[in-house]
Parts: sequence; C-alpha cells; structure tokens
Amino acid sequence: MIKIFPSILSADFSRIIDAVKQVEEAGADGLHLDIMDGHFVPNLTFGPDLVASLREKTNLLLDVHLMVENAQLFIELFAEAGADWISIHAERAFHLNYELNAIKKRGKKAGVVLNPATPIHLLTEVITEVDYILLMTVNPGWGGQEFIPSCHQKIRRLKTWLKGQNLSIPIQIDGGVKTENFQELIEDGVDIFVIGSGIFNTPEPGQTLLHFKELALPGEKKQ
Ligand code: DX5
Ligand code: ZN
Repeated sequence: MIKIFPSILSADFSRIIDAVKQVEEAGADGLHLDIMDGHFVPNLTFGPDLVASLREKTNLLLDVHLMVENAQLFIELFAEAGADWISIHAERAFHLNYELNAIKKRGKKAGVVLNPATPIHLLTEVITEVDYILLMTVNPGWGGQEFIPSCHQKIRRLKTWLKGQNLSIPIQIDGGVKTENFQELIEDGVDIFVIGSGIFNTPEPGQTLLHFKELALPGEKKQ
C-alpha cells in the first residue's frame, strides 16, 4: 500500500494548522517535517516547539527529517516533542549506528537519508538497524525543485538490492514528486512519498492529495 506524507515546507506557515487539517481530513498517512539548521543545508526552518505544538493538534504520524550537521544534538529534543519517525542523513552522521539506535531506544522509527549523489552502499553496514530509507530526489534545502531523473535508476537499484537481502524495508522519497511522475515512481518501487509543493502549492491541497491517492490505486494506468 502506497503511503503519502505531505511536507508542510510549502504550506503557508502563518496558517499551518489549517494546512495540516486539510491533508489530515483528506487521508494523509503522515506529516513530513523538514528541520534545517543553516549548516547542513543553507536554509532554516523550525524546531521542536512547532513539532510539540502540532503533536497536540493532530493525530497524524509525525515524520521528522533532520537536515542538520549534528543529529546527536537534536534526536532527544524531537523525540520529546512527539516525533514518531526520525530520519538522519548518512553524509554527516559520523556515528550512524549509534544515532539510529538512539532514535530506536526512544521508541521511534529510525530512517537513514541519502542525498542524490550519495551511494547506496553507505547503507550496507547499518541496514539491520534501519526502519526506513529516505532517498532524496532533489538536493535538500528547498521545496519546489525539479526531480533529478537519475534517481529513477537509484530507486530501482535499491529495491533490487533490498530484495536480494530478503529485506522489506520501505523506501521513502522526497523531492520533485508531482502527479506527472507519480505513477512511474510507483513502478520504480517507492513505498512512501513525501510531497510538498505538489500538494500545498495547488489551490485545494486536500483535493490534490485525494487525486494522488486515486492514482495510487492498483489497476489501469490513469491520466
Ligand atoms: C527538501 C525537503 C522536502 C521538501 C520537498 O529539502 O526535504 O521535504 O518539502 O518539496 P517538494 O515536494 O516541493 O519537492
Ligand atoms: Zn524532507
């Protein structure tokens, strides 16, 4: 079953709860929350206080994507704030095994994120500790970028490798997903879609999410 996690990065921050409610009512499977520290990526977003406040107002699964230089500083804070899933980038995680276990010890699902240029083999030694894999399909830092075409092959290679290892770890992707490339990405083997501008930059985000869900239904290829 394909899952969709809207990313609030492209929502109107001054009316964030309205945006969350729109996608919650339309059946979102989770809410993707992008944490940027101005170091790992050249942009800033929000911190644990916003996550804690959303936790009080929504029942959606909260998926925190840490785009930060020092994940160890933040795992505890976001776990406390009510994150359900926390993902960390392999590129800056000097102690990836330790950090994944720090997330799991707090009863949260632990994900590893790979940037578009980061090879899949970085996962090899930690794969048994990983609850989900997030492949970035744009360079992290902003919403509304174009999907990087070579990522189709990367998704397929990861899927094949996981199958060969007899592992059914879900593949999440993040960046540049639109109704136009959605079905091709399902065929590539994506399990969980993070979608920001493809939902929140449309006139009716709830309706757009319903449309994505309809496209994900098994059966004939739809327009
Ligand atoms: C980018 C973020 C994404 C972002 C995706 O660094 O990690 O979650 O919201 O936005 P779209 O779907 O617009 O590419
Ligand atoms: Zn993200």
